[in-house]
Amino acid sequence: MNSNKLNGEVYYPSEEVISKAHIKDWEQLNEFATNNYEKFWEDLANELHWFKKWDKVLDDSNKPFFKWFTGGITNISYNCLDVHTKTHRRNKLALIWEGENGDTKTYSYFALHRETCKFANILKSLGVQKGDRVTIYMGRVPEIVIAMLACARIGAIHSVVYGGFSVESLAERIEDSNSKVLIVADGAYQRGKIVPLKQIADEALQRCGTVEHVLVVKRTGQEVNMEFGRDMWLHELMNLPVASRECSLEKMDAEDPLFILYTSGTTGKPKAILHTHGGYMVGTYASLKYVFDIHEEDRYWCAADPGWITGHSYIVYGPLLNGATSFLYEGAPNFPYPNRWWAMIEKYGINILYTAPTAIRGLMRFGEAWVNRHDLSSLRLLGSVGEPINPEAWKWYYKVVGKEKCPIMDTWWQTETGMFMITPMPCVPLKPGSGTRPFPGIQMDVVDENGNSVKANEEGFLVIKTPWPSMIRTVWNDDERYINQYWSKYPGMYLTGDSVRRDEDGYYWIIGRVDDVIKVSGYRLGTAEIESALVSHPAVAEAAAIGLPHEIKGNAIYTFVILKNGFTKSTQLIEELRQHVSHEVGPIAKPESIEIVDSLPKTRSGKIMRRVLKARALGQDPGNISTLEE
Ligand code: WT7
Repeated sequence: MNSNKLNGEVYYPSEEVISKAHIKDWEQLNEFATNNYEKFWEDLANELHWFKKWDKVLDDSNKPFFKWFTGGITNISYNCLDVHTKTHRRNKLALIWEGENGDTKTYSYFALHRETCKFANILKSLGVQKGDRVTIYMGRVPEIVIAMLACARIGAIHSVVYGGFSVESLAERIEDSNSKVLIVADGAYQRGKIVPLKQIADEALQRCGTVEHVLVVKRTGQEVNMEFGRDMWLHELMNLPVASRECSLEKMDAEDPLFILYTSGTTGKPKAILHTHGGYMVGTYASLKYVFDIHEEDRYWCAADPGWITGHSYIVYGPLLNGATSFLYEGAPNFPYPNRWWAMIEKYGINILYTAPTAIRGLMRFGEAWVNRHDLSSLRLLGSVGEPINPEAWKWYYKVVGKEKCPIMDTWWQTETGMFMITPMPCVPLKPGSGTRPFPGIQMDVVDENGNSVKANEEGFLVIKTPWPSMIRTVWNDDERYINQYWSKYPGMYLTGDSVRRDEDGYYWIIGRVDDVIKVSGYRLGTAEIESALVSHPAVAEAAAIGLPHEIKGNAIYTFVILKNGFTKSTQLIEELRQHVSHEVGPIAKPESIEIVDSLPKTRSGKIMRRVLKARALGQDPGNISTLEE
């Protein structure tokens, strides 16, 4: 492919950007990685610390249960912290944090290591052992990072539940993971208000019976219920001798579990995606290094939440593995004013900003004057993730925020992939709205219903044909679901659940999910979660949820409800149902609209045809409805 002759609207990187980049020639790297796939990953693994090197780079003897770096012994937390405390990075800032109320905290690698060891000793004293699951439910505060690293240090498997989720979501995730310990904050600041995390957790703990100990982080300071014998304040324990600074580390097999993270799938309950110490470490380290081009002096800000995969891979593990300085901000982008983000970029001299299209569209709405009040000249690279970015938002981001000198890394990936899969690098020519091409060496394709590649510019299903180190290993406790969900539609190909178009230059253009997943403001929700929250209300007999386009959120949730006999439609009831979903699943799942209906379109076997509801709402042709019940 001749990169000088790309079709459509193309933005070429400047000489300045290329001269600074780790990777100056993408084609060359891709060719090497494609022809020497295992060697490519092995070289990258060799940049990290292993207590014992692997016997085999890739073991594909039991597909689709791929294994990476088998026989290797390492620990990702050791690579994130201990390694750097032995170098010139010892006193370098690992984490800079700003609270929504203006509080700040900073941690050098030395300090983050110390806090992690202390925290890990507390977990040990509670009886947490290698392989045990620990649920973490907090806002964006440094302790969430420390808690994750502490679990990893002692080989416990963390299960972070996003702080925007609520009672039922938290309860089912604790229960499914069988967590004995819950780490929670008293509350979180969000838009000047307090989200009562501990109170939500107390209610969740009444619905599940696995948790023996609750560690409570003091952040907001309002009064909370502390159950005697179960709940303990973290700051009190951190001052006791048990929280020693010396904490022996668990040497982990490359394939030992690192964490599980729940995500919404096609049907039923959210599933726990399993990632491991070895492969996940190599994937996140390498992808961040090449794509966001991490240099020693960089201050890097991924504005996601640690409670989602973006935060796991690119706020916590990726940046620390690279010895970078990662910035974490607690609150809302427009609090107290719409210049909050720009003010912090100026204040801390942020060089790299990675965020979601929904945030960009949200801030764009306030106009450029808020941005232009600040000196953003420290920015070198920008990033986007979570949903397709519309060219209008892309151009605003590029011009107003990046001043036409910062390339935008539009990274397509998933909870399951662990790392960027379709992504540019700074040296790659960009087309607004496209994530360009697959990460070097990774084979992806666009296929039809039968698994055959479609022609350029035709829409099809996005599949992945090569295994990669940070890939999902299985669905926790459910190997069958792992196979069914990802590997059964087309043998030998990983099914992403997205539809896509690939243009004549090989650039991918993501269209959206083709399953029952709705992306709301970049957050991944399942129709099943919203529907089961609705039917858990006494007034509801049946419910269906769909996503419809929304200017800022990308998609918004629309629901259709059949009431039980004896209940009548009223605006009050509708508001009550919306609140109910918010209380059970979380505010992000609150439906935009609830329409009371007499019937729902179903197949003869009784499945709701959401596609028909969607077409109807959009005034479109519903397509093939031959399976529709009379
Ligand atoms: C789904 C995965 C992985 C980070 C956050 C989301 C959509 C993700 C992009 C992008 C278009 C994107 C896909 C994907 N998605 N990034 N750059 N352009 N769509 O992780 O919650 O597991 O969601 O997000 O639909 O399948 P996730």
